[in-house]
Amino acid sequence: MTPTRLLQPDPDGIADAARLLRAGGLVAMPTETVYGLAADARDDRAVARIFEAKGRPRFNPLIVHLPALDRVAEVARLTPLAERLARAFWPGPLTLVLPLREGGPLSPLVTAGLETVAIRLPAHPVAQAVLQAFGGPLAAPSANPSGRISPVTARHVLDGLSGRIDAVIDGGACVVGLESTILDATGDAPVLLREGGTPAEAIAALGLPLRQRTEAAITAPGQLASHYAPRGRVRLNAAAPETGEIWVGFGPCPGADLSLSDTGDLTEAAARLFHALHEADALAGPDGRIAFAPVPETGLGRAINDRLRRAAAPR
Ligand code: TXA
Ligand code: MG
Repeated sequence: MTPTRLLQPDPDGIADAARLLRAGGLVAMPTETVYGLAADARDDRAVARIFEAKGRPRFNPLIVHLPALDRVAEVARLTPLAERLARAFWPGPLTLVLPLREGGPLSPLVTAGLETVAIRLPAHPVAQAVLQAFGGPLAAPSANPSGRISPVTARHVLDGLSGRIDAVIDGGACVVGLESTILDATGDAPVLLREGGTPAEAIAALGLPLRQRTEAAITAPGQLASHYAPRGRVRLNAAAPETGEIWVGFGPCPGADLSLSDTGDLTEAAARLFHALHEADALAGPDGRIAFAPVPETGLGRAINDRLRRAAAPR
């Protein structure tokens, strides 16, 4: 249990929030859409804690929040289409999916290993103040337990997450009250991925042909049976390696080549998961074999096992 602090939206409260975020903490903050559960988007462990606090069964990619348009280049490539949309709608309830900047600072957990990243500049003065004071990118899904109603007051946040997060800033009720509209802006024309706070009509009014998402887009990488897969073959629940296998441990695993967590800590394992898959892939090579030690099917372990099953699925 973490005692959850209720912070005021004044300079002291904002400074406390920024301090908690810099220390890898979780702070719920008001945005104009819904309250977001913010964490440092560059910190694997902090991002893993978001999934843990929400009880998310899977690592969905998260939206990255930035204070200003000129900060986008640090994490993503601003396409000409995105620039046009951003100038029309930012700051505001619009999220743009952009090509991820190669070698950028974001935790791979934020993008769920994708090569795109969802970015938003919130208009709420408190969210902006937190972003300015913190000075970096903040990952922030809605601040509610997975599967529950999105929070539009600090009270809603506490009802769902009290004791699971470090603080919530009370900024009153959210004016938009439903999540941002999400557009894929990686190509020449925007593709609508989620209806939300910016109506399609407003986007169409720019003279842009707004396309509905196709089946291909619905089958987001996270939903595919085989995904997050290294080149070699993956075997799960391996109590010991077979000859020639790269063995990735969890908890005490004498002789393991890599470990998700030496101490069997699921939060650490979640934070390390995508890194471990990359490292094991490099060690095993294209025709190699990788074995993972069993990970318990509890808490974050379910999300980890979901990803591992996709990595091991027949292709
Ligand atoms: O209004 C909002 O957008 C709120 C506030 C807090 O900013 N945030 C929010 O986040 O709704 P969340 O995590 O509940 O929703 C994120 C959505 C998911 O549906 C996810 O699939 C999509 O964004 N998403 C994130 N990254 C993506 C990507 N690279 N490609 C496609 N979809 C992406
Ligand atoms: Mg949500």
